[in-house]
Amino acid sequence: MKHIDIYEIFENKELLNSEVTVCGWVRTSRDSKNMAFIELNDGTTLKHLQIVIDKAVMTDITDFMRLGTSLKVVGTLVKSAVAVDSVEINATAIEVLGECPLEYPLQKKRHTLEYLRTIPHLRVRTNTFNAVLRVRSVVSAAVHEFFQARRFTYIHTPLITASDCEGAGEMFKVTTIGFSNDYKTEEEYNADDFFGRRAALSVSGQLEGEVAAMALGKIYTFGPSFRAEKSNTQRHVAEFWHVEPEVAFAELPDIIEIAEEMIKYIIKSVLEKCPDEMKFFDAHFEKGLIEKLNGVVNNDFAIMTYTEAIDVLKKSGKDFQYPVEWGCDLQTEHERYISEEICKRPVFLTNYPKEIKSFYMKQNADGKTVAATDLLVPGVGEIIGCSEREADLDKLLQAMQVRGMSIEEYEHYIALRRFGSVPHSGFGLGLERIIMYVTGVQNIRDVILYPRTVGNIY
Ligand code: 4AD
Ligand code: MG
Repeated sequence: MKHIDIYEIFENKELLNSEVTVCGWVRTSRDSKNMAFIELNDGTTLKHLQIVIDKAVMTDITDFMRLGTSLKVVGTLVKSAVAVDSVEINATAIEVLGECPLEYPLQKKRHTLEYLRTIPHLRVRTNTFNAVLRVRSVVSAAVHEFFQARRFTYIHTPLITASDCEGAGEMFKVTTIGFSNDYKTEEEYNADDFFGRRAALSVSGQLEGEVAAMALGKIYTFGPSFRAEKSNTQRHVAEFWHVEPEVAFAELPDIIEIAEEMIKYIIKSVLEKCPDEMKFFDAHFEKGLIEKLNGVVNNDFAIMTYTEAIDVLKKSGKDFQYPVEWGCDLQTEHERYISEEICKRPVFLTNYPKEIKSFYMKQNADGKTVAATDLLVPGVGEIIGCSEREADLDKLLQAMQVRGMSIEEYEHYIALRRFGSVPHSGFGLGLERIIMYVTGVQNIRDVILYPRTVGNIY
């Protein structure tokens, strides 16, 4: 269908005073005595294009006016009669592509995000989702640009796996048969299943990412990860998009530098490429958002050890729901206090107690902590989980034994420590979490097309 995208109508000055064809959906419409006005949106920009109808020329306009109707409009592109520096179309012909009944679920008023979650197939047509999804696209492109420019190789790691990277047992089983009484044991059942052994959806591409990094030096993955966590929070989904670089010959401070640079690059890209969207979020979701992000780009992130954080939390005088003691896992309330009230900017918390972290993390010389860091940001909490990996075979085996893990299942991973082991580090960034941070949208369900959460699948 020959037509011009609405973003181009606004940007291409040469189109002024010429005849153009545009397509889109009616966002609002207004009828007056001699004239009628339609705000048309085709999704290529947040901006609506005003279509002006002279009722002396077009008489039967009822069908064009209904919200949600899709139209093809031909007309002359002219300077807007009222809006400064804008354009509108004086329509000469309008064709209805698809009718829309009056009971269209999206009405002119501002709907709540809760209501919009019940209509995921239509909420994408709102300004909020138009803006969120464009920012999501620009963030994704920025991730690739950042790593490609630094010669990282993009690796596709398997989504179906036999090993549990995080060891938290929160995996979705992959099976083609149901367990039945025909099997005497679980082993027998697994043996009869598609792969002949237990399989699940991957929670992280890290283990395979390490395999690739031990050959290609610098790699990153960018794909979905799956977690069967039953946590019904504003920050957890069962299916999220995961960015995971893995770097050979990098120690913890090296990978922290890369993480900080990457976050800044992503934010800069969004500020530069999505000015309308960012103004929208600043106005409707988080006042001062653009200023906050400019501050993030232009200042160093904070860095603090876990032990210092525990100290600060204990001395805070705050009445936390979960008590704080050295060795405890930090809760969202603690993470937010540290990043929002103490640091007031993104902060890398480093050197966590080894008991609360994963088996693959490098054990520090103190015998108590690991060379791991979480990046905590105000308003969201953890957006990155990062560590230097244990490169020493004996220490790795010992960490696995302590956790009761099967050495056999991780044979390939362990073998990397046998054949030319090197210091190496990596991290995982949750795509939805960084989008929440740059848009100010507070619920993770509202930054993804179809959120998958416990008890909920559309
Ligand atoms: O901290 P996590 O569990 O770390 C890993 O998976 C490592 N293997 C990463 C690595 O070193 N390659 O997860 C990393 C990030 C979190 O910081 C968070 O941003 C995101 O993934 N994430 C989730 N996002 C949304 N919903 C969930 N259920 C998430 N679980 C983790
Ligand atoms: Mg984590």
